This record gives sequence, structure tokens and C-alpha cells, in this order.
Amino acid sequence: MRRLIYASRYTGEAALSDALRHIVGKSIHNNRIVDVTGFLLAGDGAFLQWLEGPAASVAETFERIGKDPRHGDLTILSDGDAPTRQFRDWNMGQRQLGAEDRGMLAEAGLAGFSPATMDAMTAERLLILAGGRHAR
Ligand SMILES: Cc1cc2nc3c(=O)[nH]c(=O)nc-3n(C[C@H](O)[C@H](O)[C@H](O)COP(=O)(O)O)c2cc1C
Repeated sequence: MRRLIYASRYTGEAALSDALRHIVGKSIHNNRIVDVTGFLLAGDGAFLQWLEGPAASVAETFERIGKDPRHGDLTILSDGDAPTRQFRDWNMGQRQLGAEDRGMLAEAGLAGFSPATMDAMTAERLLILAGGRHAR
């Protein structure tokens, strides 16, 4: 099991909410086929994504994601072996941060959402907290 967490900057033209919907629709389909699960958090023109699954599947998926023109400045925050899956129920869970999530950011020790500068532990905590708020 490999777990990879990265941050990126949204560069698309469409509203972030529309882009997120399209990306996640496609991701759920693709990730199911290769046994990848995870979570995508979006907000303030940025993405924070957790990918987990067989090492080769995560590698192949992340390589494709890296070529996507809808984002740039990909920064890997954490990458390595993981003993278990965190998001086993979701081929790709998602949340767009809103004003109501200020408390969640504070709980993770953050004043705002700038994932590229987060340390690995903070990014992990925030994604797990966000996963708890995912509408099933
Ligand atoms: C922030 C972000 C996260 C993405 N996450 C995934 C993902 O988890 N799985 C996936 O297959 N594609 C993901 N994509 C989309 C890929 O970059 C790519 O568009 C898609 O995999 C192409 O699928 P197709 O070859 O079946 O058309 C993501 C794109 C962005 C911008």
C-alpha cells in the first residue's frame, strides 16, 4: 500500500466547484478500476489530495494527474508505505471548503487553506477531518 499526498494550484477557467465535480466523477470511475481510494479537498484556488492503493496504481494515477492542465505547481507533501487504507469507502471522496469549515481548519491548527506550505502531519489531519464531513 502506497499513500501519496500532494498539493496543487487550480489553473482552470471554470468555477472551482464545476471543475471539482468533473474531476471527481472521472476519478471515481478510473480509481475503482485500479483499486485506488482517497480524498480531494478544494478551496481558495488550490487542491489537496490523498491517494492510496497498490504502489503501481498510485504511481500510474499520479502520473496522469500530473499532466492535467487544470492545475500546476504540484508539491508532494507525503509519500510512502501505509499499513492500512484511510478512505476505503471512497474511490475519491471530495469536499470544497466553505465558510463553515473555518472551525475545521482551526482544529488542524490552520488560519487558512494554503496546502502547498503544509507539513505532512497537518495535511493528513486536515484530510481526515474533511473526510469526516464528506456527505455519503
Ligand atoms: C486535482 C486533480 C485530481 C485528480 N484526481 C484524479 C484521480 O484521483 N484519479 C483519476 O483517474 N484522475 C484524476 N484526475 C484527472 C486526471 O488528471 C485525468 O484528467 C483523468 O484521469 C483522465 O482520465 P481518462 O484518461 O479516463 O479521460 C485529477 C485531476 C486533478 C486536476
